[in-house]
Amino acid sequence: MIYLRGDLGAGKTTLVRGVLHALGFTGKVKSPTYTLIEQYDIAELNLRHFDLYRFRDAEEWEAAGFRDEFNGCNICMVEWPEQAEGLLPVADLEIVFTIRSDSRTLDLYAHSDTGRQCLA
Ligand SMILES: Nc1ncnc2c1ncn2[C@@H]1O[C@H](COP(=O)(O)OP(=O)(O)O)[C@@H](O)[C@H]1O
Ligand SMILES: [Mg+2]
Repeated sequence: MIYLRGDLGAGKTTLVRGVLHALGFTGKVKSPTYTLIEQYDIAELNLRHFDLYRFRDAEEWEAAGFRDEFNGCNICMVEWPEQAEGLLPVADLEIVFTIRSDSRTLDLYAHSDTGRQCLA
């Protein structure tokens, strides 16, 4: 479970696109701005890319069946996790994007043993 935090345009979707391409995915990586979720089953990994910017309430969460996606097997990369605070499992890894005048900074925080293994 990876939370991606940062303003619009900070590079969250770009990072997910880079991860997918590094895993060998050659198709188009669209932002899940309207669909809320895009699914990629590649290289024996099931990656789920969420953008919860337009997400509103818990009812929508249950209706969309998102709970099933957090099964401990899928890799979930979640933009705007603050929109579903209390519904999402806690993050293994949290990546905070900051836009600076001529660059970007990413801060990575591990919140579980899995997250610590990733950082190590
Ligand atoms: N590290 C980066 N350096 C330069 N430009 C970037 C970087 N990350 C993203 N961009 C550009 O910023 C724009 C918005 O990025 P995007 O990944 O869609 O942001 P977010 O998903 O955080 O809203 C895109 O045009 C992208 O090419
Ligand atoms: Mg985005």
